Amino acid sequence: MSAHDFVIAGSPAWIGSLEQTLLPWLEAHRASYSGLFLLADANALPAGQGAVDALSEAWGDFHRCPMILSDAQTYTPGDAEAGKTLLSCERIWRAMLEARLDRRALVLILGGGVTGDLGGFCAATYKRGIDFVQIPTTLLAMTDAALGGKVGINFDDIKNTIGAFRQPAAVFIDPTFLQTLHPRELRSGLAEVVKHAYIGAPELLQYLQQRPHVLNAPENLSPHEWNRLLRASIAVKARIVSEDPLEHGLRALLNFGHTFGHGLESYFLSIGQPITHGEAIAAGMLCEMEDPSPADIALLQPLLPPVSLSQVCWSSLWAFMQQDKKNDRDRVVIATPGDAPFTMRKTTLTPADVQGRWQRFLGQTGQA
Ligand SMILES: NC(=O)c1ccc[n+]([C@@H]2O[C@H](COP(=O)([O-])OP(=O)(O)OC[C@H]3O[C@@H](n4cnc5c(N)ncnc54)[C@H](O)[C@@H]3O)[C@@H](O)[C@H]2O)c1
Repeated sequence: MSAHDFVIAGSPAWIGSLEQTLLPWLEAHRASYSGLFLLADANALPAGQGAVDALSEAWGDFHRCPMILSDAQTYTPGDAEAGKTLLSCERIWRAMLEARLDRRALVLILGGGVTGDLGGFCAATYKRGIDFVQIPTTLLAMTDAALGGKVGINFDDIKNTIGAFRQPAAVFIDPTFLQTLHPRELRSGLAEVVKHAYIGAPELLQYLQQRPHVLNAPENLSPHEWNRLLRASIAVKARIVSEDPLEHGLRALLNFGHTFGHGLESYFLSIGQPITHGEAIAAGMLCEMEDPSPADIALLQPLLPPVSLSQVCWSSLWAFMQQDKKNDRDRVVIATPGDAPFTMRKTTLTPADVQGRWQRFLGQTGQA
């Protein structure tokens, strides 16, 4: 097995086929664990079936807990989010108890950000915390959600409001999973890739600006191109969370685009027409930039939600933004990239700023 590709806040991470990364890692750590428990998003399982079969061969009969979070046939953005609840935790904790997992058991979490956050939280709290590994299967989870140790659930309809920091024992990123992902989910993850480029990877930004096909038709990307994008994007997140694992400073920069973005995401959820997280963040980044250039607009335009945004009134956004958990007391503060990579600028927004920036965004993207 090759040396890890990254260390993220102490956790090793590999990019490559599960057969060449996860399986040898498990073999090497066999003596440390009393058993395995696989928590898997049923929609992601088919692409990982080969690795799961190989795992059965090597480990015999291990415990499995498939999660049916959404119907792959009738895809609706964000529908798996409804499963990130205390009720799902109860189901998982019960399955862990029935499987008689002790404190030396290892949980394998295979799925997107919903499964990763939920499964990580269940593992972090079961018997005061047992080890887990993340096997992210969406682009968003590969480059963001599975890295950095934030785990949690939604409660009383407030996103991620109950949670913990617990780093995974390891992370295994297999780009094969991207082949079965819905194109809108690919674009959603690409918004976080672009965010990382703005934050700390000018060469990645240039690469994306010179190759419009990456954001316009991600379903046609070659494994080589995915590999390159994943490495460049993950390097940014790895550096930030390793420097500031508990979000006392620089980690706030990862929220670039997320104040306007969460406002938009919440708005569309409230009217029963959910958009993806990345679509909201793509719009959020353009709103939060001090002065977006034509190149910024051209880059992010293909990632915007495929719905009319002019229907959204700035005051609805402001109302949602005031409830944002990132706010500092009552102030709505955004963190945007500074002039040099890995530097941050913080700005407090007034209602007039939000109105002005939203109208600017609608005008610049031809939606006014
Ligand atoms: N912990 C963190 O630091 C962090 C960071 C960003 C986002 N998040 C969380 O991540 C969640 C969103 O994650 P997501 O975008 O991965 O969504 P998701 O987990 O809901 O997955 C999106 C959809 O794709 C399906 N799916 C997953 N993998 C698949 C595959 N390989 N093939 C086919 N279908 C597949 C899922 O069933 C789901 O319908 C949110 O809850 C968000 O709060 C967490």
